[in-house]
Amino acid sequence: MTLPDNMNGPDWGCVRDAWEEMRNRRMMPMRIGYDPEFRAKLAEDHREIAGYNNYEYGRMAVEALGEILDSDSRVLEIGAGPGTLTIPLSGQVKQIVVVESSDAAVASLSKNLLGCRVENVEVMNRNWLEMGEREVGDGFDLVVCSHFLWQMKDLKRHLAKMEEVSRGHCAVIQPAGRDSMVKEMWTEITGERYTGEFDPDADHFAYLILRQWGRLVDVRNVNYSVERSFDQEVRYIASFIGKSVEVDSRMKEQIEQYVSLKSLSKETQSAVVMWWESPV
Ligand SMILES: C[S@@+](CC[C@H](N)C(=O)[O-])C[C@H]1O[C@@H](n2cnc3c(N)ncnc32)[C@H](O)[C@@H]1O
Repeated sequence: MTLPDNMNGPDWGCVRDAWEEMRNRRMMPMRIGYDPEFRAKLAEDHREIAGYNNYEYGRMAVEALGEILDSDSRVLEIGAGPGTLTIPLSGQVKQIVVVESSDAAVASLSKNLLGCRVENVEVMNRNWLEMGEREVGDGFDLVVCSHFLWQMKDLKRHLAKMEEVSRGHCAVIQPAGRDSMVKEMWTEITGERYTGEFDPDADHFAYLILRQWGRLVDVRNVNYSVERSFDQEVRYIASFIGKSVEVDSRMKEQIEQYVSLKSLSKETQSAVVMWWESPV
């Protein structure tokens, strides 16, 4: 893979260190002691929430990307999960090829594709990092990933690889900010002030790299709504707390009490959508 010339300059080191430090926090495995089925239930929650309000998150992102999409577009999506973006995008383009490494995510995506009668999506159950350019294929009009950047240890390599298989545009969509319930509960349980330990934001790193490469990046912010049931909210909070301390039955009760006190309602969240032209 050819990397842009100016990507290993001396000014990059501190940004790379910050990326690694933040990534290590976000990718920490969660420790949940109270329910052996927790992971499967959480995956099902993600699948349901991805489809909330007819895939609102994805619809808003697709709307933001409207000017670079048309009904002839061929799209490559990396790390599609349950189809949060894939499903609304499928109605606007000719074809989507998905690269998704997790068997569970592929099962969840397949279920959603079937449920929505989507037929123009090809799913490759593969690890993006292990695929050569030939296997991925090239000539995609758009190469996109949503809520994916923290999965990549080497962010520059990921962005360069996206560009390599695109003949048109690349796009990154990343949720912005974490809701207050999680942050408050984190402080209550750990006794520490929340300083962004599990904020999903990562777009600013991509922006820095791309501008360093001379790319002109278009950026739009979109809002979308999310609503969780009581059990989903408890699992959602536990999944983040569990990155710091093991969540046992007593702690689960503490989270439940907290969620009972706060009335659950529809929340508005934001995401950053950025896109740029791939160099030919
Ligand atoms: C946080 S989820 C985001 C899912 C979806 N794009 C969304 O916006 O909700 C990240 C997804 O990337 C997948 N993933 C992580 N590393 C990957 C890799 N190296 N190759 C392919 N998929 C990967 C995970 O299995 C997971 O489904």
